[in-house]
Amino acid sequence: MIESQAQASRLLRAGSLIAFPTETVYGLGVDAENESAVARMFEVKGRPAKHPVIVHISDQNLVSYWAEEIPEYAIALMRKFWPGPITLILKRSGNAKDFITGGQEFVGLRIPSNPIALKLLSEFESLGGHGVAAPSANRFGSVSPTSAKDVVEEIGELLGDDDLIIDGGASEVGVESTIIDCSRELPRILRLGAVTEAMIETITPIDTDSNLEEIRVSGSLTRHYSPRAKVIIDREAKPGEGLIALSDIPTPDGAVRLTAPDSVNDYARSLYSALRKGDSAGLGVIVVNPPRGEGLADAIRDRILRASAH
Ligand code: TXA
Ligand code: MG
Repeated sequence: MIESQAQASRLLRAGSLIAFPTETVYGLGVDAENESAVARMFEVKGRPAKHPVIVHISDQNLVSYWAEEIPEYAIALMRKFWPGPITLILKRSGNAKDFITGGQEFVGLRIPSNPIALKLLSEFESLGGHGVAAPSANRFGSVSPTSAKDVVEEIGELLGDDDLIIDGGASEVGVESTIIDCSRELPRILRLGAVTEAMIETITPIDTDSNLEEIRVSGSLTRHYSPRAKVIIDREAKPGEGLIALSDIPTPDGAVRLTAPDSVNDYARSLYSALRKGDSAGLGVIVVNPPRGEGLADAIRDRILRASAH
């Protein structure tokens, strides 16, 4: 654990892995221009090397370092939603190498809003860095971490002496960023998140009917974000089974209540930690009653569906 973002940014520049809080989930950051650091990050995650990774920046001026031919609607989206939980996929510049784009012609960029993340990134940029490549700080296929303790549990033992985990408390949003493909005439949503379709539509029309599988997004692998327990959607929890549901749904006798959020926002914030709690309690089955409605509720249902795909 760690004292200052300045120290962490120096370590990043020197090739260390720095796990840091963002408003969505914790990221496992490395210098996006340091190929061997990126390789070590992939190794710690256990993620196949051909997967692209999001580059985090603190300043919109760096977009043109990483991307080119940026459509007007993408600029409008950045102005409206950055810093915040939205990632834009843009045509890469020569600076975005294959080792962060997975060999694709597109790069994913995001300015997070978490103050610790922003400070870390701006310090890193003041040392001559241009961006921090960071996937969620979990082992490949498992649930994203929403606290420093989760990160320790996932990858703590795999980190080296010069790597760090920055503790920024619990993640504010709790599910990963909305991802928008900005490579075509109209934007397409590749991953749902806290910036909702309705919010995006206030800025630009969206292409809603093309095929999401065209651009390879590892978050769209069917089984992803999975706990060890079997996740079952919308049936009554039996004795000894875990239950994740809004607070107005009572806990059946003998079932283990893992969270009882009062709102959809709260649901998003507590979903992943509740799944982890079920795993650390050694539960075989976790029953989940997803929230209804649109927007963030859609993003939550998307993650629950993936967690249930065994
Ligand atoms: O909220 C978030 O987005 C968090 C925090 C740490 O920023 N990051 C995150 O990263 O969720 P990751 O790697 O776990 O998920 C990012 C997804 C992956 O499915 C990846 O394939 C996709 O974004 N992605 C990244 N760059 C891409 C690109 N150039 N083209 C297509 N998909 C891309
Ligand atoms: Mg991830």
